[in-house]
Amino acid sequence: MWLPCRCAAKYVAASFSRGVSASFLHALRRNRSSWNAAAFMPESSGFEGVSGRDALHDYSVSHSESFWAAVARQRLSWIRPFDVVQDCDLSQGRISWFEGGKLNVSVNCLDRHVHTCPERVALIWERDEQGSEVRYTYKELLEMTCRLGNLLRRQGVKKGDCVTIYMPTCPLAVASMLACARIGAAHNVVFAGFSAEALAERIRDAQSSTVITVNQGVRGGKITELKRTVDAAVRSCPSVQQVFVAMRTEKQVEMTDRDFVLEEEMLKEDVVCEPAPMDSEDVLFLLYTSGSTGKPKGLVHTQAGYLLYAAFTHRYVFGYHDGDVFGCVADIGWITGHSYTVYGPLANGGTTVLFESTPVYPDPGRYWEMVERLRINQFYGAPTAIRLLIKYGDQWVKKYDRSSLTTLGSVGEPINTEAWEWYNRVVGEGRCPVVDTWWQTETGGICIAPKPSEPDAEIVPGMAMRPFFGIKPVLMDTEGKVLTSNNTSGALCMAQPWPGMARTIHNNHQRFIETYFQPYPGYFFTGDGAYRSEKGYYQITGRLDDVINVSGHRIGTAEIEDVVNQCPAVAESAVIGYSHSIKGQGVYAFVVLKKGVDIQEADISKQLNNMVSEKIAKYACPEFVQFAKRLPKTRSGKIMRRVLRKVVECDLDSLGDLSTLDDPAAVQEIIKGHEKLL
Ligand code: PRX
Repeated sequence: MWLPCRCAAKYVAASFSRGVSASFLHALRRNRSSWNAAAFMPESSGFEGVSGRDALHDYSVSHSESFWAAVARQRLSWIRPFDVVQDCDLSQGRISWFEGGKLNVSVNCLDRHVHTCPERVALIWERDEQGSEVRYTYKELLEMTCRLGNLLRRQGVKKGDCVTIYMPTCPLAVASMLACARIGAAHNVVFAGFSAEALAERIRDAQSSTVITVNQGVRGGKITELKRTVDAAVRSCPSVQQVFVAMRTEKQVEMTDRDFVLEEEMLKEDVVCEPAPMDSEDVLFLLYTSGSTGKPKGLVHTQAGYLLYAAFTHRYVFGYHDGDVFGCVADIGWITGHSYTVYGPLANGGTTVLFESTPVYPDPGRYWEMVERLRINQFYGAPTAIRLLIKYGDQWVKKYDRSSLTTLGSVGEPINTEAWEWYNRVVGEGRCPVVDTWWQTETGGICIAPKPSEPDAEIVPGMAMRPFFGIKPVLMDTEGKVLTSNNTSGALCMAQPWPGMARTIHNNHQRFIETYFQPYPGYFFTGDGAYRSEKGYYQITGRLDDVINVSGHRIGTAEIEDVVNQCPAVAESAVIGYSHSIKGQGVYAFVVLKKGVDIQEADISKQLNNMVSEKIAKYACPEFVQFAKRLPKTRSGKIMRRVLRKVVECDLDSLGDLSTLDDPAAVQEIIKGHEKLL
C-alpha cells in the first residue's frame, strides 16, 4: 500500500496553526521590503551603486558574468567551485555555464535543507481524493530518494543513462527524478496523458533501459491504466530491461519478469545514497516537446545552470519566502512541473504542492478549497483552467478563504483580458499581483514576467511585461533586423545566453542549431511573436510557426497531420489551430479523401479521433474535421495554410494575396464547406 501510515490529526493541527495569523505576518513582511538591491537580493551586495529593479536588470545584462557568478556562488552548494562562468556562442548554438564546477542537484534540493530543517515539509501531495493530502518532510523525501537511487544503482543504472518516468504528479515521481539526479542518470519524464506510441517513441529516442510507472493513475475520479500503456509501449522498445511499478491503487496488474513493484524493491535499500559529483554541464534531463516539423524533440537541460535559473526565478518572480506554500498545479510531465513544482521550490527549501487532480473535481471549487485547506501562498496555473472556471461562476471561488494567497501566476499560453481580470478581481480580491509568465521548455525557466518590479510598479493585464534578470529580449523584423523602437511587433529573440536555456536536442544538435540559432544569426529565436509597448513592456502575440497550443499543451500541426495521413481513406490533410474560448486553441483538420472511398464522413472523423488519441494523446484530437475535395495550394504545390486559417477565423476580408493560388475555386469550396460545418 502506497500511503505511508500517518496520523492524520497531526496534519489537521498543522494546518490550523498556520492559519490567518501566519498569512498576516507574511503580508507584513512583504510590505516592508524595499528596493535596496542588496536587501532585496543578497547576492547583489557586490554590485557597486546598483539600486532599483531596473538598474539591477541593466547590470544583470551588461555584467552578465559577474551577475551570474555571484548568484551561482550564493544560491548553489558546490562540491567544487566553477572556473569559467560561461562559454557561449549563440551564433554556433554553443551554451556552457559554470564549467569546472561540480555539484549534485539532489543534494542542492534535499540534503542541504535536511541539515538545517529536516522536519520542514517539502511536498504536499494533493491526491485526487479531495481532503486526503499527504505531507513529506525534507528528511522523508531524502530517504525516499536515497532508497530509489540505491535501487537504480543496484539494477545497473549508471551515470549518463536515461530513465523514463511515466507517472502522474506524485511524491514517488519527484523522488524518481531526484534519484536520477543523485546517481547521475538523466530522466525523461513523459506526460502520463501520452499514448503508448508517443511514449514508445520517447523511450526509443532516449534509449532508456529503465522505466518507472504506476499500476494505475487516478485523476478526476477516473482510473487510467498506465501500466498497461507502458506494456504496450515497451513492446516496441528493445532497450527496456526493467520496469518499476509503484502501486497508486490496490489493483494488481499483470507483471512480467521484467517488472518490479517499486515500493517492495525500495524497502530492500538503504536510506543513505552517495551522491554522484556531477559536472555543471552533465545532462540533468531530457524533456520532449513539439516543434513545427518532424518528431518531438528531446530538449536537453543540464545541471547547474538549469537548477540555478529555476530556483532564482521561483524566488523572485513569485516573491517566494521561507515557510510559504507554493501551489503549482501543472503536471510534472511538462516543463512547468519540472521547474516550478520540483526543482525551483525544492532548491529554495520550499514547500511545494503536487496536484494530482483536475480543476473541476469533485466540483469547480477544487482549486480554492485546496488553497484554503493547504494555506497556499502562491498559486500558479494555466489560463485554460481559469477560463473554464469562469463559466461556473464566482460562488465556487468565494465559498473559500483565500487570504493566504499573495501571488497568482499564469503560464503556458496568452491570458486574455477577461480571464486576467477575473483571476485578479475574484480569485485574488485585487490584492495579489497577477504574474503572466512567458517562457518555454527551451528556456528552462521564466524569461518575461511582471515581477520582480519596484513595489508599486504597474501590472498591465495580459502582458508578461518585464524581462527577468539576465534576459535581453529583442524583436526582429521580417528582414532579420533588430527593431529598436517601442510600440512595435516582431519575432521574439534573445540577444544573450542565460544559465537556464536548453543546451541541445538529444541526438540532433544540428536540428537545435537550425531551429533556434540559424533564423536570426547570433540570437536565440523563440518561435513566438511579441509586441513591445510604448513603455517597453512585452506582450506575447503567439507562435510564428505551425505549433499550436491546446489547453496550454504544445503540439505541432505536422505531428497531427502525420497521424491523419496514416488513415487509409485519407489522401491528404492540413491541420491548423483555431481560436477556442476555453482551450485557447482547438484543432481543426481539413481532410481530402482518396478517390472511391465509400465510408460515411462521420465514421472517418471518429476513426481519425481514435487514431490521434492512440498515437499522440487525447488533447491533440481534432474538434472539427472538414472534408474537402482539394486543398488550396500554390502553383508549386504548397498548401496555403494562411488561407485556411483565415477561413476558419471567418476573416474572409483578409485572405491576402491569392495570386499564387493554383486553382482559386478551391478556396470557394473550402469557404462553403466551413459554413456548412458551423
Ligand atoms: O507560445 C508560447 C506559449 O507556450 C510556448 C511554450 O510551450 P512549452 O514549451 O510547452 O512551455 C509551456 C510552459 C512554459 C511558448 O513558445 N506560452 C508560454 N507562456 C506564455 C505563452 N504564450 C503567451 N503568454 C505566456 N505567458
